[in-house]
Amino acid sequence: MTRNEAIEFLGSMNQQKSDMNHYLETEAIMKALAIRFGDDVEYWGMIGLLHDVDWALTRDNLKEHCIKAVKILKQKGFDEEFIQTVQSHGYGYDEIPFLKDKQRENRIEHALVAAETLTGIVYAYALVRSKKISDMSIKGLKKTFNDKRFAENCSRELVREIEKTGLTLYELFELSLNALTEIKEKIGLE
Ligand SMILES: [Fe+2]
Repeated sequence: MTRNEAIEFLGSMNQQKSDMNHYLETEAIMKALAIRFGDDVEYWGMIGLLHDVDWALTRDNLKEHCIKAVKILKQKGFDEEFIQTVQSHGYGYDEIPFLKDKQRENRIEHALVAAETLTGIVYAYALVRSKKISDMSIKGLKKTFNDKRFAENCSRELVREIEKTGLTLYELFELSLNALTEIKEKIGLE
């Protein structure tokens, strides 16, 4: 599946604009992380883009989130490793009993859960800054991150999993702000 095909496929499902933004944001951060680690940029990007591939089908039935994804991705020709990586961002959630006791083990898994969770905090922060991301500072983001009442559904603990990849939180913030600023027009920010 090419990137365009993946975007088209996501668009063929019942997505909200904010969902599509989230997929593109996660893709952008995952690509930046792949560059940072000297890993496969296209592969990491595709993981980010498709990590919530079943979201449109499971948003009202969370216990199936990351479960339905398996069949969908298999049908699209993705291998076990890709599918397991996608699924791993659902590990540990009470809402998904089947995945609750599983543990993320490798770098790309920690990176994915950190990246996809951080997008929520950055986006919410941009919204209170009149949608401006281009001049958002790492310091400001850090302060927002530390304010646990802000975007409180975004687990700080999951973002901190980036530290298991050897990167610091600060490095993740820096690289993510750059990556998201680069795609700001595509995600409705300035
Ligand atoms: Fe997500």
